[in-house]
Amino acid sequence: MSRERRVIVKGKEKEPEMGKGRGAIEASTMTRILLLLSGEHASLPYSEVYAILASEGAEFIELERHDQVLVVKGDERVVRHLKRRAAYVMEGGAFITWSKPSAEELLQACNYADWSFLKGRSFGVRISRVKDYWKGIASSQVEGLVGGAIKDMTDSRVDLESPDVWIRGVITDGGIFLFRQDFRTDRKAFAKRRPKTRPFFHPGVLEPKIARVFVNLSRVREGERFLDPFCGTGGFLIEAALLGLCTYGVDLDKRMIKGAAKNLRHYGLDAELILGDARRLSFREVDGMSTDPPYGRGTSTKGESVRNILTEFMREAHGIIKDGGFMCIAAPQEIAIQEIAISSGFRVHEMHSMRVHKSLTRSIIVVEKVAG
Ligand SMILES: C[S@@+](CC[C@H](N)C(=O)[O-])C[C@H]1O[C@@H](n2cnc3c(N)ncnc32)[C@H](O)[C@@H]1O
Repeated sequence: MSRERRVIVKGKEKEPEMGKGRGAIEASTMTRILLLLSGEHASLPYSEVYAILASEGAEFIELERHDQVLVVKGDERVVRHLKRRAAYVMEGGAFITWSKPSAEELLQACNYADWSFLKGRSFGVRISRVKDYWKGIASSQVEGLVGGAIKDMTDSRVDLESPDVWIRGVITDGGIFLFRQDFRTDRKAFAKRRPKTRPFFHPGVLEPKIARVFVNLSRVREGERFLDPFCGTGGFLIEAALLGLCTYGVDLDKRMIKGAAKNLRHYGLDAELILGDARRLSFREVDGMSTDPPYGRGTSTKGESVRNILTEFMREAHGIIKDGGFMCIAAPQEIAIQEIAISSGFRVHEMHSMRVHKSLTRSIIVVEKVAG
């Protein structure tokens, strides 16, 4: 490949992080952890949690699933990896108790709960409601009930400005769930990276949060090889490089390669960008891929039908992805991308649907290359 066709973007040197890597000794105390998920999509937030924890090798067991709430049993790695990687997890922490949505039941649950972690620490209670569940019970009433119960049972002081511990509650389809807020994901960081704030913008680029979800669904972890073969302005590459993946991007359009390089430099990130055709990839092997190929509506396909491009691309992708590797790919629903994936030899791991507007619903599928 000639020099002009390959752009290597080098970011700043990073300080090595202490105690990282597969060899590090991990604590193995399993506790119940509640995760409050984003309501931006009905199924993707749960899948993102599973994909992150699987790729990081963090063991966990799902205990309960409700609207925007997942209760799992796992060790501290669950919190560490989700906090660092997830876009659709909003916050989480140690599960405290659960009750049906009634004042009596809630008080009873609070009386049985273990509040010993509050010893010598101030606390505040804040309740959120998912959608319109149990509107008969006001959030302020729940806050008062829980706060009062804790005050009766402990010597902890209430501080609603900056308490040592936030006790959080979620009112959702399954009832009222209380947890100790141990982490919050940085929602503002995603907003700050909005595509329109980057030096190079082109319509059709996905917002950073959904781009991050696509990258996470590829199950590629730090130091492994990630490829977006239709990389456009580099939205997925930015999210992948921020996670420390070895990031590669391919695009047929020279303007996109130049623009993606500009965008990656803007954030001081490393990536290798290649001007080329996703149907003829010059890679030996990659660990996983995520991509949002052209839909034939506004984005360039150079006169080719989207179905043909995807059929040829899928065969090529199957050849370069490692055995057991995953790819997350989107396409308009009517293309039936899952059928193209199956006929190329992939196993469809999961499918999601995302309505974009009246005449476009996107299918998002995650496929696996099964060994053998
Ligand atoms: C929907 S856009 C990708 C948007 C991208 N996710 C971003 O962050 O900007 C699809 C891209 O595929 C590129 N493309 C079209 N046909 C291609 C092909 N055969 N091989 C590689 N790239 C191609 C287009 O130039 C376009 O940039």
